[in-house]
Amino acid sequence: MEFIKYDVEGMVGIITIDRPKAMNALNSDVLKELGSAVDAVDLDAVRVLIITGGGEKSFVAGADIGEMKDLSKSEGEEFGKRGNDVFRKIETLPIPVIAAVNGYALGGGCELSMACDIRLCSENALFGQPETGLGITPGFGGTQRLSRIVGVGIAKELIYGAANIKADEAFRIGLVNHVYPAEELMDNAKKLANKIANNAPIAVRNAKKAINDGIDQPMDEAIVTEEKLFGDCFETHDQAEGMGAFIEKRKEKTFTNS
Ligand code: CAA
Repeated sequence: MEFIKYDVEGMVGIITIDRPKAMNALNSDVLKELGSAVDAVDLDAVRVLIITGGGEKSFVAGADIGEMKDLSKSEGEEFGKRGNDVFRKIETLPIPVIAAVNGYALGGGCELSMACDIRLCSENALFGQPETGLGITPGFGGTQRLSRIVGVGIAKELIYGAANIKADEAFRIGLVNHVYPAEELMDNAKKLANKIANNAPIAVRNAKKAINDGIDQPMDEAIVTEEKLFGDCFETHDQAEGMGAFIEKRKEKTFTNS
């Protein structure tokens, strides 16, 4: 792969988008490689995925403006679908995905971070949906995910105003969970990933599915979604192990992902 690096550290996979000449902007090739990298994650071995940007300035500075400049209506729609398909793949990946936002997260970059389960960022991060200033709407899910994460009113202000916001404001509105000095971001992302990875993997996956599926359902259906995924856990070795350890007052637990 030319633009994507993939590393595995223990139970944590790390995808780095690395296109330094363009601040890691997403063109069709980068999107294709990102999709392939996500497809290739070994879900038996990797329990949490981190996505970050190469270099020190940018997570992802958006979709590639040079590539989009001369698109027709149908090509624009197709380009949006290409991004949306990859981001949806990330959003619905069975394991949790953490965005370690190490700088610019603009347009498609902000949208990529929002397709992840949890956003952590560096103090120099800058978030925004600048699309209306470029004559387009957000096209990789921004109109949908931003309002779901921060609420419709703030999402509309940010999108209509094409305003960029710094890390502290992103934290204030709930777009990111934590802000760290740049040099501490990856360590903290890995620490959180490992904390999650040490819990029962099937329970974590089922919790992700329950939250993601349930959020768009009426409450009476959403709780049934939860009941089913809750019930499924009782067929697992890891439920017996986790509860057994509690009852036996045993500190050590061995979750086997089964
Ligand atoms: N697309 C293509 N190239 C980009 C890019 C993008 N989104 N962002 C940065 N680059 C390129 C620049 O053109 C420049 O290339 P050259 O050296 O060949 O000129 C290189 O990256 C470095 O960028 P700058 O010189 O501009 O660096 P800077 O530090 O002065 O500014 C920046 C950095 C603030 C990120 C600025 O580059 C910028 O504003 N980029 C565009 C951000 C943007 O508008 N993103 C939204 C895109 S639209 C979108 O994403 C639609 C969607 O929802 C799908």
